[in-house]
Amino acid sequence: MNTLLQAASERASKFIAALPDRPVAPSPSAIANLDRLGGPLPSDASDPLDTLALLDEVGSPAAVASAGPRYFGFVIGGSLPAALAANWLAGAWDQNGAMRIMSPVAARLEEIVLAWTLELLNLPTSAGGGFVTGTTAANFTALAAARTALLARSGWNVEEDGLFGAPPIHVVVGGEVHVSLLKALSMLGLGRKRVTRVPVDHQGRMLADVLPPLDNRTLVCIQAGNVNTGAFDPAAEICARAGDANAWVHVDGAFGLWAALSPQYAPLLRGAEDADSWAIDCHKWLNVPYDSGMAVVRDPNHLKAAMSLSAAYLAPSEEREPWHFVPESSRRARGVELWAAMRSLGRGGLCELVERNCRQARLFATRLQSAGFAILNDVVLNQVLVSFGTPGQTRQIIAAIQADGTCWCGGTEWQGHTAMRISVSNWSTSDDDVERSAAALVRIARGVLSNPL
Ligand SMILES: Cc1ncc(COP(=O)(O)O)c(C=O)c1O
Repeated sequence: MNTLLQAASERASKFIAALPDRPVAPSPSAIANLDRLGGPLPSDASDPLDTLALLDEVGSPAAVASAGPRYFGFVIGGSLPAALAANWLAGAWDQNGAMRIMSPVAARLEEIVLAWTLELLNLPTSAGGGFVTGTTAANFTALAAARTALLARSGWNVEEDGLFGAPPIHVVVGGEVHVSLLKALSMLGLGRKRVTRVPVDHQGRMLADVLPPLDNRTLVCIQAGNVNTGAFDPAAEICARAGDANAWVHVDGAFGLWAALSPQYAPLLRGAEDADSWAIDCHKWLNVPYDSGMAVVRDPNHLKAAMSLSAAYLAPSEEREPWHFVPESSRRARGVELWAAMRSLGRGGLCELVERNCRQARLFATRLQSAGFAILNDVVLNQVLVSFGTPGQTRQIIAAIQADGTCWCGGTEWQGHTAMRISVSNWSTSDDDVERSAAALVRIARGVLSNPL
């Protein structure tokens, strides 16, 4: 075991050391080579060192360098050193994070991380939370609590009686709602289509003054951090309206809620603390290894009512039991890396990470704009949208950028425009990486525009 773990450590260290210099996207030949991992399942056992070597030699070159400093696709963070190291140790622990008796350390770390997160993000300190795989699962979990609470107001127990014959819940979302939230609604039996979509402005922010009438069976889903523009729905106005009507407000704050870490960006979240539930991603801006997110609910009892389970053999306890707050039973101890990331950076380090990435997004925008390209969004956070010309030209340039390998950016459609997205979310991205990437973007774009297909 010792030799094997040392070999794994050496191979992983080599992979990480090479990240800043290798092409960000794997080569077509490295991807084709993945077939070597298949073939017939060996009939006999072999030396685990050989298995590790094959995985590294074939798998590592085919991995996307999304953990590295010049990956700007989707919204993807890397792994902070302390978080990655803690993840390895936790792998060795192999704890089942379901119940306190199965893993006192996992349960305690969750409590600590929950308290730190509520404090860091300016959320009610008495809120409850569950540790899930990401924001899709966090939206699902928090909205399950909302469904429980809203139906209980009409005397309906959705856990016992399901949704057949239940009083309707009115669901309100913004015109730019993230697809994962609609998926969560569909999984909860609330439907993707039977929602009221509130019109949005040119940044994708819900227009609070055209909200439909709200009541105490309305679920309003707002967003902190639009995946394209980084814009925030006007939480203060919406929460005030919802508060008057006793409606439930849920915040999809995948990456945007982390703006609360910085005095400079926290005002974007004004009023979000008045909501009833929040979905937070940790594998994005907190830079912990995949997969990791948190569902937070103001009244822990609603979350517990939606998620808890019991059986005689399952050792009930008076303390917080992790599995009473999440959809899963057995699961990995996600609090470990969160604790390590937060403890190692501290409040100051976390604030620096957010502020640096936001400044770097502006740096990208400045460089691209000076080169004559159109920035389509107000760069309020860490997201930049750029158009290189016609939709065809933009798409061709995105493909050329991805093939070049200096950095990686993806495409999108934004309110009728074809655009390239730049999301700066990685702890290891330096200003030098941004300058180098921006220079490559400009060089490639100019090259494509002067030599069209
Ligand atoms: C606003 C928003 N919500 C939800 C998600 C989905 O997050 P996950 O992939 O962690 O489930 C994303 C992902 O980018 C997002 O930006």
